[in-house]
Amino acid sequence: MRHFLPLKVLQLMVTVCVFCSAVVCAEMTGYARVTQDGRAAVATVQPRATEAAMAVLAEGGNAIDAAVAAALALGVVDGHNSGIGGGCFAVVHWADGTIEALDGRETAPMLASRDMYVVDGQLNRELSRTGALASGIPGSVAVYDYMLKKGGALKREAVYRPAIALAEQGFAIDQIYAERLARNRDVLARFSGTAEVLLDDNGQPWPAGHKLVQPELAKTYKQLAQQGAEYFYQGELAKRVELWMKANNGLIRQSDFARYQMLKRTPVRSQYRGYEVVGFGPPSSGGVHVAQILNILQSFDLTKLSELQRYHVTAEAMKLAFADRAFWLGDPAFADVPKNLISETYAASLSKTIALDGTNKAVTHGTPAKAEINLFDKHTTHIAVADKAGNWVAITTTVNTDFGSKVIIPGTGMVMNNQMDDFAAQPGVPNVYGLVGSEANGIAPGKRPLSSMSPTLLLKDGRPVMTLGAAGGPTIITQVVQALINTIDLQLPLAQALSAARIHHQWRPDALYLEKSASLELRGGLHKLGHNMKDLGPYGSTQAIAFTKEGFVAVSEPRLEQRNRR
Ligand code: DON
Repeated sequence: MRHFLPLKVLQLMVTVCVFCSAVVCAEMTGYARVTQDGRAAVATVQPRATEAAMAVLAEGGNAIDAAVAAALALGVVDGHNSGIGGGCFAVVHWADGTIEALDGRETAPMLASRDMYVVDGQLNRELSRTGALASGIPGSVAVYDYMLKKGGALKREAVYRPAIALAEQGFAIDQIYAERLARNRDVLARFSGTAEVLLDDNGQPWPAGHKLVQPELAKTYKQLAQQGAEYFYQGELAKRVELWMKANNGLIRQSDFARYQMLKRTPVRSQYRGYEVVGFGPPSSGGVHVAQILNILQSFDLTKLSELQRYHVTAEAMKLAFADRAFWLGDPAFADVPKNLISETYAASLSKTIALDGTNKAVTHGTPAKAEINLFDKHTTHIAVADKAGNWVAITTTVNTDFGSKVIIPGTGMVMNNQMDDFAAQPGVPNVYGLVGSEANGIAPGKRPLSSMSPTLLLKDGRPVMTLGAAGGPTIITQVVQALINTIDLQLPLAQALSAARIHHQWRPDALYLEKSASLELRGGLHKLGHNMKDLGPYGSTQAIAFTKEGFVAVSEPRLEQRNRR
């Protein structure tokens, strides 16, 4: 029997995870903005990042410049969620009508090994979450550099400028950032480079209102602005990382940086009720399972079902998809991920296992036709930006959990990720999000850990009409699905589509998380149908931009703004 964590622990972890993005700094308004001339729109979880993107647009930049400017600014003001020490996936619809899926996921260092976190037969999860062994080689910089080179309208220096100013001049941290520092104080204090930036001289966390200045991060950004990704992967930065890693029993070497490659993936394309959904394939599970869940739901007319039935079948579809995720998914360079996971025929067979009058207790992974064929070729925060020239960007980027591995490499200002925890460090043993996995997601040198990040574009008649994505570990997938069905099936305006009570089911544990805002009737009904109900939230962090008859509509997670108004 697999050992699962007690539900309470998992619930706490899921809550921590989904909140890590959902409750970031919220002193200012302006999370989602449309330019005055209606030319472009931006949605992020941080007004200062949205502002950075708007500044770049005002200088004549396009959505590509603005998206990268927002990502860089988030690395300064929201460094506990994302930054240059982390990774990302981006789905980009370029102005020429082509679409690319850019993989900036971290890779395991070449000295990594399958059982590197197993000590005396026991998995030591602390090692995959904190400190020198927790990080993969960061990939975000490679993606941002590529995006700017290929489709940016401005010089790289202009795109970096707002983020450099934020790092150099500082910004007042708010209550939420301060809470995050306080909560992680003891672990942050263990690393001198981190303590120097994030704690005061007595090792205490900076209080709300403190002006956080990050001169070393500003210096790193300036070098990146001048030299581009080369500085990061071939130059001084990689050297500094190796120095620190060697002194701290870490495995990352300069050569790992030198061999890092951003990869272009084939986007996952599927059809949903007349729309084309374009998502991110392995090593993200996001695109596959967003498509799979939608495919399963396609067998039901959601508009004819009662609210209870709609939530029930959606939960059942989530369960089926996550059972497949645990078995099949991993880095496609190492695991054969069957493309037919997203086939409509396979989804139709799965949908037959869903009964309207009760839950399916026997869900296990399925086997799509031609499962032996690998067609996802061996090949957290979400930012949505679009412009009228036809650039549509969906970037989900993360250092994984709060402040990643908690390590800031001295002299760089860079928070290192702890994405190694997304590997299945021992098959069947859950990670920080309670997710289990198989050998497909086992650790190997150079391999990319499986992700749930789901940057998504929605197309109608070949043209983009929406860009969206979310933060929150595995709930990313289910947030994106619900945003889509609320928009497409229920035809809700974007803000309402994102506000509606959310559910999340990830197969293991067998629990259906329902937001507290849902009615007692819905909760009771789902319980009667056999779901093991758990309260959650409010939770989630979805950003989306749609193009409507009135032009762009941009929405940043409504729960964030509600919290801000309180
Ligand atoms: O790639 C993944 O699926 C996770 N590392 C994402 C982390 C995340 O969303 C944290 N959110 N609160």
